[in-house]
Amino acid sequence: MKDFITTQEWSKKDLDTLLELAKDMKYNPLKYQNKLDGKSLCMFFYNPSTRTRNSTQVAAYQLGMLSVLNGIKDSWIGYHSESIKDTSRVLSSYYDAIGIRIFPNVVDWKYKEGNKIVREFSEWSKVPIINFEDDQFHPLQALTDIFTIKEKKRTTEHKKITISWAYHPKPLPLSVPNSILLMSTRYGMDVTLAHPKEYELDDEIISKAQKNIKESGGSLNFSNDIKESYEDSDIVYVKSWGAISAYGDAKKEKSLRMPNRDNWMIKSKYLNYTNKDSIFMHCLPIRRNIVADDETIDGPHSIIYDQAENRLYTIKALLYYLLHN
Ligand code: CP
Repeated sequence: MKDFITTQEWSKKDLDTLLELAKDMKYNPLKYQNKLDGKSLCMFFYNPSTRTRNSTQVAAYQLGMLSVLNGIKDSWIGYHSESIKDTSRVLSSYYDAIGIRIFPNVVDWKYKEGNKIVREFSEWSKVPIINFEDDQFHPLQALTDIFTIKEKKRTTEHKKITISWAYHPKPLPLSVPNSILLMSTRYGMDVTLAHPKEYELDDEIISKAQKNIKESGGSLNFSNDIKESYEDSDIVYVKSWGAISAYGDAKKEKSLRMPNRDNWMIKSKYLNYTNKDSIFMHCLPIRRNIVADDETIDGPHSIIYDQAENRLYTIKALLYYLLHN
């Protein structure tokens, strides 16, 4: 039995298999229709979702599965009301897999506590646990991102990706930047992590990314400058995240982010620094004209809707991989 809590815990070979499977599912959907007939998926959402929830439910339906949505308002969901041990033991006796989304607010902004809860579910579960995004990782998003980059750029090796911080009115989780950093370094990309100096990612993630680079043959650079970091880029991956030094302290965090508001609101003119055929990516949701301007989001570089669509094929591939005997 295998969980999907981070991509880092999966071998490159298994990740490649998922990507190939997702591609086949995208172009040959009938081949897989109802192949998981009789299987069931429990979906636990401590926090809202549009893409993860809907792509998973549609994928499950197409595979012939039952998916049941549980929110905090309609179940004795783990953390406070019922122990995670009891919840996980009981649910894993009904279902064939369990997916969980848990954001920092649920765990009072204690970094990594959300991931700990996902792992606690796994400890007591008899069936695979799928991370629907916790406070540290969003593996389904990162899997989709690499799938999309391969689709648009044919290969990932030595493609330059700029993972760019952007302004947002509130501090956001680190799960997406952590996960795309780990996957892009795993897939031999030339990665530039661009952010204001207060917005470094955590040391543990950076050291894993550096280890990935040694194995994959890519590179990893850091920059606090938009022009320098966007120059010659093939992929600009924009996402806002909160400052670790002020994690859980909204007032202090605001004082760090406000000076960066104007410069780090992504403008379409920034894409002029990149390669002509570069692509603009964002996992969505995105606040228009706050995180990035409409001209960027709707402009010729943007592939955000294809990226979002691909969430369907990667979750479908994962469900099939985990549950098909
Ligand atoms: N990208 C993503 O996970 O979107 P949702 O929050 O809508 O699921």
